[in-house]
Amino acid sequence: MNKEKMLIVEEYRQILQKKLDNQKTSLERNKLGQFSTPIELANEILRYGISISPTDNINFLDPALGTGVFFSALLQNINGKVIDEALGFEIDPFYAVPAINIWGKKNLDIIISDFTNAKPDPRFNLIICNPPYVRQQHITSQEKTKLKSLSLARTGIDVSGLAGLYCHFLLLANDWMDTSAVAGWLIPSEFMDVNYGSAIKTYLLKNVTLLHIHRFDPKESQFSDALVSSAVVWFKNEVPRNDHKVKFSFGGILSKPNVIRDITLNELRDEPKWSRFPNLNARPKATNTTLTLGDYFIVKRGLATGCNSFFIVPENVMIDKKLPYDVFRPILPGPRSIKQSVIESDLNGLPLDVERLFLLDTPISENQIELLHPTLFSYIKEGKAKNVHKGYICSHRSPWYMQEKREPAPILCTYMGRSTGKDQLPFRFILNKSNATMTNAYLAMYPTKRLSSLLVNHPNLMMIICSRLNKISKENMTDEGRVYGGGLHKLEPKELSKVPMPFIEDLLSNIEIVS
Ligand SMILES: C[S@@+](CC[C@H](N)C(=O)[O-])C[C@H]1O[C@@H](n2cnc3c(N)ncnc32)[C@H](O)[C@@H]1O
Repeated sequence: MNKEKMLIVEEYRQILQKKLDNQKTSLERNKLGQFSTPIELANEILRYGISISPTDNINFLDPALGTGVFFSALLQNINGKVIDEALGFEIDPFYAVPAINIWGKKNLDIIISDFTNAKPDPRFNLIICNPPYVRQQHITSQEKTKLKSLSLARTGIDVSGLAGLYCHFLLLANDWMDTSAVAGWLIPSEFMDVNYGSAIKTYLLKNVTLLHIHRFDPKESQFSDALVSSAVVWFKNEVPRNDHKVKFSFGGILSKPNVIRDITLNELRDEPKWSRFPNLNARPKATNTTLTLGDYFIVKRGLATGCNSFFIVPENVMIDKKLPYDVFRPILPGPRSIKQSVIESDLNGLPLDVERLFLLDTPISENQIELLHPTLFSYIKEGKAKNVHKGYICSHRSPWYMQEKREPAPILCTYMGRSTGKDQLPFRFILNKSNATMTNAYLAMYPTKRLSSLLVNHPNLMMIICSRLNKISKENMTDEGRVYGGGLHKLEPKELSKVPMPFIEDLLSNIEIVS
């Protein structure tokens, strides 16, 4: 097929892709991980893959074909090489049948079935795939057991139950690769940092020769319709040499990255956070004496109320409905409406200069409420009419309107955010002097015993610590967390606990000496 004809076919494929995508709901597409690769990116990937493929005769496999954007890019960038065979798997006939209509006559075989169930045949020397990003929550336990045992059998690697489907796709494709086959996988870059990603990292370090990982800048999501930050991982089906170096690149495009650097296999073995490369060096090996935030604070997620709009009541509604304050407790509004770094308190412990909100939280039964607090009883009935009591959290506690125990925390961390400037932290620490508790929009930090005992004589200590926390370097802070598409950073309680905090020890030691 000449170039002009190929472009016409590709144009038609794109129109069809859009039309098919629009006919599906986002839920349906999420369930099967149906987010197509833009043709520009597919062209970049194929150009690169073909250039590093050692052979002139290509046996191409795409295990998650969609409408065949990678095959289209293969045809457009073949550059004098010959396609001996091309095969694609697609589970969903909704995409597979139109793909057969487009590519059936162009020597692409399309198998409409689940790639993970197919019997492998190691005859392909170029595997290119944007696998389905189906999160583990959407995989049944039966399916997970099957995937885990297949991945283990093919690679010797035990994959965590938290791994998404894309991890299994990559490992299961192992037995489809010919010796020295080249593979390029467009996958979420979170595997580089999260615990469940260790299966892929182990595979890339031990089973194959990792050639190159290009991580796109998370601020420039590659997909218009999915919020993921992506990486292209290139490897060759060969056992790695010990002195092998891997190319790590970041930002820009695959053929023209903003940053590029070679990293040794030893560095990769020692550093679990691969997203540090190429911009940063590996961290010095942690020693047991490295003190972290968890040595001074117990970090917990704030309250999951079960239905904020019902359980959290603004003061004017409390007054209008004559609700009894003694079965409510003050709660802070979400981080977006708190601009200050210190929340002051009035004499009753209520927060100042923020919207006054109250959280329904009582152990008394509905019968007692009916007797003691008729206005609250009506409010409870309103909630039941809206089925609030049938929600997952409410139906798993008794009574359904009693909250988990979560005391007001003296320091709150807004654990999800974007950094707008080079040095600006994506997270904020807020000193809470009030008696208001907080929702799970915050991480709550409670001082450990040692810190609490020092606070008795040094009430300003918490303020000093909080303001120093806001000055921690962005790198230290984001090292432990993870970053999502669009540059969204997120820290889990465990990750916040692991952020190194040498300055607190200096502060405390000085105070202890003075005391
Ligand atoms: C992320 S999309 C990529 C599609 C296409 N290769 C592209 O890049 O535009 C993943 C595709 O895999 C398909 N898929 C999901 N589960 C699959 C499975 N178990 N076996 C084969 N295909 C599957 C989805 O229907 C979807 O079309």
